[in-house]
Amino acid sequence: MEWWTDFYVEGSKHELAKVREIVEGGETNLYRAINLFQLWELTHKRQYEDGPGTLFYVKQEFKYADSFFPTGKPILTSTFLGGKMLKLPSYSKKHLGRFILDYLEHEGLAVDTIVELSAGWGRFLFDLYFNGSPSDIALISGEVSSEARQITEVLCDLDPAIPITAHDFDFYRPNLDFLKDTDSVLFFTHMAVMFIPELQREAILKMANSAKRVRCIHFEPVGFQVLAGQYMAAKMQGVVAGFKGFNQNLITLLEELHNENLITVRGLFKDIIVDVDRTHAISVVIWEGGSG
Ligand SMILES: C[S@@+](CC[C@H](N)C(=O)[O-])C[C@H]1O[C@@H](n2cnc3c(N)ncnc32)[C@H](O)[C@@H]1O
Repeated sequence: MEWWTDFYVEGSKHELAKVREIVEGGETNLYRAINLFQLWELTHKRQYEDGPGTLFYVKQEFKYADSFFPTGKPILTSTFLGGKMLKLPSYSKKHLGRFILDYLEHEGLAVDTIVELSAGWGRFLFDLYFNGSPSDIALISGEVSSEARQITEVLCDLDPAIPITAHDFDFYRPNLDFLKDTDSVLFFTHMAVMFIPELQREAILKMANSAKRVRCIHFEPVGFQVLAGQYMAAKMQGVVAGFKGFNQNLITLLEELHNENLITVRGLFKDIIVDVDRTHAISVVIWEGGSG
C-alpha cells in the first residue's frame, strides 16, 4: 500500500476508537457526536514516531501564548486565496456541503446519488445532510480504510433516517460496482486525489462511465499544476507537493481525457477556497462524463 494510504488507514483506527468512546460514553445525538469528535480532531495531530507502524495522536501545543484565543486555539493562521496572502481566524470553517448544494441548484442538476471518494469518515457527507441535501438523494462514501467506514456506520446508527452508506473504494484498484443502479451521479473529492501521487486514467474513466449522467467536482490543492498565474504562494504549494509526494498529474490527466473526448472539463477555478494550511488553498475542477 502506498505511503499516504497507509498513513490514513492507520490513523482511522485511532479515530474509530475515539468515536466509539463518544458513542459508548452515552452520546445519542448525531450532530453532537460529530461535533465532539471534530473538537478532538482540531486539538490532536497525527504523528509518526519512527515511520509506519508507530502512528499516534498528540495534543497540539502552540508556542506563543499571546496569539491564542482564550480557548487555547491560535488566533490566526496564514493562507492564500486567488494569489493573495491572507490571515484567517482559526474558527473559519469550510462549507463544502453548501457549495455542492448551491452548485446543483445553480446548474439545475438533478442527481439521484452523491458520492465522495476518499471520504474519510464522511465529514462532508454529514455536512451535506445537515445543510438539507434532499432525503431521496443517496449519499455514498467510497473509502479505502475499513475503520473510517466503520466510523461512518457508527455515526449513522445514531440517526436511522440518514441516507449515508459507506463502501470500499481504492484509487489504485478502482471498483464502482456499488453504483450499479445509479442514473445520475455527482462525485466529489476533497483532499483525496492529492494523496495519490500519479492518478491512473482508469480511475477517472471508471467514474466517467459509472452512470448515464456523471459530474465530478474535485476540491484539491492542485493550483500549482496550472502554469498560468504562478505567483509565489502557488510555487510554494508546488514545492511542498513535490517533497511530500503529493499528486502531480490531476490537471494534465483531465486535460488529456478531455482532448480525447472521453470527458468534458467544464471549469477550472484556481485557489478559490481557503484552508487553514497556507499550502493547501483549494482549486476546484469540474468535469462531466456519462455513458448515456
Ligand atoms: C485527508 S483525508 C480526506 C478525507 C475527506 N475527504 C475529508 O476531506 O475529510 C484522505 C483520505 O484519503 C483516503 N485514502 C488514502 N489512500 C486512498 C486510496 N488509495 N483510495 C481511496 N482512498 C484513499 C484516506 O484513507 C483518507 O480517508
